Amino acid sequence: MNQPSHQPRTSRVIVITGAAQGLGRAYALRFGREGHRVVALDIHGEAVQRVAAEIEAAGGECLALTADIGDEASVADAARRIDERFGRCDVLVNNAAIFSTIKMRPFEQIPLDEWMRVLHVNITGTFLMTRALVPLMRRNRWGRVIHVSSAAVAMGRAHYLHYTTSKAALIGMTRSMARELGADGITVNALLPGATDTEVPRETVTPAQKQAQIAMRSIPREEGPQDLEGVVAFLASDDSGFVTGQSLVVDGGLSFL
Ligand SMILES: NC(=O)c1ccc[n+]([C@@H]2O[C@H](COP(=O)([O-])OP(=O)(O)OC[C@H]3O[C@@H](n4cnc5c(N)ncnc54)[C@H](O)[C@@H]3O)[C@@H](O)[C@H]2O)c1
Repeated sequence: MNQPSHQPRTSRVIVITGAAQGLGRAYALRFGREGHRVVALDIHGEAVQRVAAEIEAAGGECLALTADIGDEASVADAARRIDERFGRCDVLVNNAAIFSTIKMRPFEQIPLDEWMRVLHVNITGTFLMTRALVPLMRRNRWGRVIHVSSAAVAMGRAHYLHYTTSKAALIGMTRSMARELGADGITVNALLPGATDTEVPRETVTPAQKQAQIAMRSIPREEGPQDLEGVVAFLASDDSGFVTGQSLVVDGGLSFL
């Protein structure tokens, strides 16, 4: 029998962290539309439930999980629930981060507890999630890990040093994890988005900085979630099976690695 046209040849189990809003929500909706089984995970339980309801209302399948990626027990519980529901994990998009809530300021003014929290969630949280879900990928000798870094690293953007430091760490993590996981059929790549508008207001880029960045882009226009979704879909697919350890900048050709 013919499958509905939105069904992919393979319906994968795709875990997206930070899926309650912004880019994570956009990736979750995209994979839901494509007929994949989505796990939308976020520290904000009610908001992530709403995203799951959106996906299901559109005919997709989504498990909403409330979890703190920086908490080992919470991550272990999430991995157990994914295993119980689906018995597998094919793709992990490590998108959750402390980002839109950051206040820009010179690094001498960043309090130590804020520095530690950003590094903990953005780096250690990514490590904990990947460590918990790689065993499920290994079972099928197929997996895709996508770490969401930032083009702010390539640009050397000022005034959120904890954030750029954390996103730079993910590039090193990507390369070393790729070495450890390649023989098991698991690829690990980093996505470096440019400043991208979402529905979430934030102060990490001023209107003047945004215009300056647009002017510096080879493709001089605003960036939206639609510029990133397809790249994430490619990194999650069979087509990217020989691409690993790479850092892919998607910022309209502002910075070149
Ligand atoms: N939007 C941009 O311009 C841009 C540019 C470059 C990189 N990025 C990166 O893309 C990703 C998404 O960006 P966004 O604009 O949607 O950010 P956002 O701040 O709107 O969303 C981040 C999500 O992560 C969740 N989260 C935070 N801490 C968590 C934790 N401990 N456990 C679980 N979930 C947690 C939040 O609740 C939120 O839903 C981030 O990694 C960000 O650094 C964004």
